[in-house]
Amino acid sequence: MKRWILTSLLGILALIAYSQPNPAQRDSLNKLTQADHRLMMQQLKIDSLRAGPSGNPQAPNAANSDERKAKTYTSMPDPLRFENGTLVQSPMDWNLRKAELKELFDREMYGRTPENLPRVVWEVVSEKDTIIGSVETRYRKMKGIVDNSMFLSIDVSIDFEYGVPKHKNSPVPLVLEFGWIWPAGMRRPPAPSGPSWQEQVLEQGWAFGVIIPTSFQADHGAGLRAGIIGLVNKGQPRKLEDWGTLKAWAWGAGKALDFLETDQTINPKKVVIEGLSRYGKAALVTMAYDDRFAVGLIGSSGAGGAKLLRRTFGEQVENLAGSGEYHWFTPNFIKYAGPLTPNDLPIDAHELIALCAPRPVFISVGSPEVEGQWIDARGMFEAEVLAGPVYELLGKKGLPTLDFPPIQTFLDSGDLAFRQHEGGHTVGPNWPFFLEWAKKYLDN
Ligand code: GCU
Repeated sequence: MKRWILTSLLGILALIAYSQPNPAQRDSLNKLTQADHRLMMQQLKIDSLRAGPSGNPQAPNAANSDERKAKTYTSMPDPLRFENGTLVQSPMDWNLRKAELKELFDREMYGRTPENLPRVVWEVVSEKDTIIGSVETRYRKMKGIVDNSMFLSIDVSIDFEYGVPKHKNSPVPLVLEFGWIWPAGMRRPPAPSGPSWQEQVLEQGWAFGVIIPTSFQADHGAGLRAGIIGLVNKGQPRKLEDWGTLKAWAWGAGKALDFLETDQTINPKKVVIEGLSRYGKAALVTMAYDDRFAVGLIGSSGAGGAKLLRRTFGEQVENLAGSGEYHWFTPNFIKYAGPLTPNDLPIDAHELIALCAPRPVFISVGSPEVEGQWIDARGMFEAEVLAGPVYELLGKKGLPTLDFPPIQTFLDSGDLAFRQHEGGHTVGPNWPFFLEWAKKYLDN
């Protein structure tokens, strides 16, 4: 193909991937996504996949929400056993096992983050002194410009903004959120009645930051030939073990942290990563792979995040592997929706949590009555329980109980914390609990 045709095609693709789609554009995005999904299936030599259950509890094929039918597996991989069967007995052994687990997660689920990723240069877009809540704050909007000299027709930049309380004598902790942007016409979740999470964080004397994942990697399969994934692949489709968007979003968070390391007002050893839903998955992946993040607040991450994939309850691997969500993962993961099954996975979510050890992780979820059962609160709790022995091996504390607690019980005595709040699909009501618990790690 002539270069200019290729370039304009890529330009159009990038444009579609980054602008807010109208119905016609959405249709064309869907077609591109379907085509890419099919291409990945062809490369995997798969003709058909099992369909996932429906998220609509009224549908005839609704996802299971009956606890008695949830435990369909007979075995669960053991984080403290090497692939050759020998036991992990010391923190030193754990370092080796950790490398083994990362390799498995890379190859089978989240994909390999490329080596030698391009440089990012940070620019201040705007800066002002303002008052947020009652706190005097220095607020900055930043842009991380990604060096695209390897493939000039794809531009990538990272949108990131942060607010730091003024008049502090020493560098402060920062809570970094993967932030949503709400397309025009889409209903936002209701604003919290009390102070926003940013206000609560500032009240604590800490800084907050928001990174916009879709600024550097779109949230659909059609966007995979643009953004940071497309740039590194020079506009070509992904190969079977390439990274998915969760890994790409985690890379962006790491770049924001690189930048924060250069800001004297921030303590880069005390940076929290937080996210909800797909961004809760991204926050957990970030924690698991980037040891520099000190604490994780993982909101309603569900399947592909903190929930055990082997449990037949709520969202299933078949949903994750379908064309609407496969882009979050490596193409190789699709095969677990046919011919393989979730029971063939060499890893499960508890091992992703374990990769965060010994660093503290708070797993947050809403009420089944309000949020629904798709997230599988208990599947996340059980994964957290199963990650406990790794924390204990490293001299830390897991959850204090094996029994799923009643709603609004705060399991906060360990370095793994869990709380199911009374609200819906939000971290909202859990913020004060998180901040109280996190103080002991961040305020010393
Ligand atoms: C869907 C998807 C979930 C995801 C959620 C979200 O419900 O099935 O896996 O977490 O969207 O990100 O809002």
